[in-house]
Amino acid sequence: MAEKEALLVQKAYEEIEKNKVLVENDPYRLNYHLMPPVGLLNDPNGLVQYKGSYHVFYQWNPFETAHGAKFWGHYSSRDMVHWREEPIALAPSEWYERNGCYSGSAVEWEGKLYLFYTGNVKLDDGTRETYQCVAVSGDGVHFEKKGPVLKLPEGYTAHFRDPKVWWKDGRWYMVIGAQTLNGKGATVLFSSDNLLSWTETGLIAGDGMNGLSDFGYMWECPDLIRLSGKDVLLVSPQGLDPSGHFYNNLFQSGYFVGQLDYETAQFMHGTFTELDRGFDFYAPQTFVDDKGRTILYGWMGITDENEPHQPTLANRWVHALTIPRELNLRGEKVYQRPIDELSMLRKNRIEYKDAELAGPATEFNGVKGKSVELLLDTMRVEFGGFRIRFRGEAELFYDSDKREISLIRKNFKSGEPERRTCEISGLSQLRIYMDNSSLEVFVNEGEEVFSARYFPKPENETIIFYGMGNFSLAKWDLEKMS
Ligand code: FRU
Repeated sequence: MAEKEALLVQKAYEEIEKNKVLVENDPYRLNYHLMPPVGLLNDPNGLVQYKGSYHVFYQWNPFETAHGAKFWGHYSSRDMVHWREEPIALAPSEWYERNGCYSGSAVEWEGKLYLFYTGNVKLDDGTRETYQCVAVSGDGVHFEKKGPVLKLPEGYTAHFRDPKVWWKDGRWYMVIGAQTLNGKGATVLFSSDNLLSWTETGLIAGDGMNGLSDFGYMWECPDLIRLSGKDVLLVSPQGLDPSGHFYNNLFQSGYFVGQLDYETAQFMHGTFTELDRGFDFYAPQTFVDDKGRTILYGWMGITDENEPHQPTLANRWVHALTIPRELNLRGEKVYQRPIDELSMLRKNRIEYKDAELAGPATEFNGVKGKSVELLLDTMRVEFGGFRIRFRGEAELFYDSDKREISLIRKNFKSGEPERRTCEISGLSQLRIYMDNSSLEVFVNEGEEVFSARYFPKPENETIIFYGMGNFSLAKWDLEKMS
């Protein structure tokens, strides 16, 4: 490792050591989500299964609970449940990445692990430069930087980043998030036969194509995946205006389903669908594991008005990743469900086969806690509203007349209630993952998902049900993962 990089890495380890007690004693520290050891985490990066281990890298600023010159932090696991903190993978030490080793992906080739990432450079006069870079490893832990392999092509501003690389039919492909010269968000396709020299095929989506004349000023973190014989482009557009129940977060993450012609870059696709209907979800990435599952992690956070008001800032850390979700396509809709391995965290099962609500606030004996999985199945909620109140701080509300489901929490800045809502065809199942300061709600086997951070009083463990209806109810405590 070069001297400058070694120095940065050492400073980051010192920062972890210095704040360890403060960070680990935070009552809002999560039990089974990946978090930064100190500082700020954002996007999941480099998701891959390599030599039998799962690897999750993440955007990381060790020195502040704010955005800055990002590192790549690194966790590895044999089962996606128990994680090991690995040595820092990338530190922004070189001229081509001096303002951050920004987001990217990982692939294995000829036994080696290749990381692709964006070298972010901000010059003193305020202009930006962007370089798509590579780092290579033979053990999945120590990386050797190879420097830039792709410079900014013509036709785009320097908002050109987040390479996602994959292999298909004997060739490597890469998509990059871009802004065209007329200020529109877009996704660009490249190909290569050696991972080191790349040829532009063309724009596949955005910038007026497929009727998207006005769809954001920048598209971050693209990911092109294959589900049930269709090509699905995941992307995080910035600059969409709210429209009814849609696009109510500052930035969105969602997908287009279609068919991509890899030769011509023609991607015929349908409309944009949001992946998550909660408050805290952005910049997801996927990988395919050795069982053939397409698994997604998202950043359970977003850069918005709440970010500087998260209470964990006082304890020198902020943000986490979502739990891993397996993706499947039903029709044109991506369904998401927590991966089966998460059941390893379960203990103390409590079950009510015929739970019944008759209006007033109802608590079920033993159904309480901070780190809990709830499964409500065969639900019949046919009249009026149905609510679950979590630890006195957040609420899930289903309006059976309107067939709308909402998540309500307090805005961290104002303390006022805020709500995200979406329409569903009816309510048959809820699978809810509560962690010390997060909620992930999977509706109807993953037809819709709501992810959110929330900060209840640490001693409050109540889970209260209201409304009319019946369902089967199972509850497990979820253990702290090691
Ligand atoms: C998305 C993003 C990426 C960028 C990274 C920087 O949250 O803005 O586009 O590579 O974060 O941390």
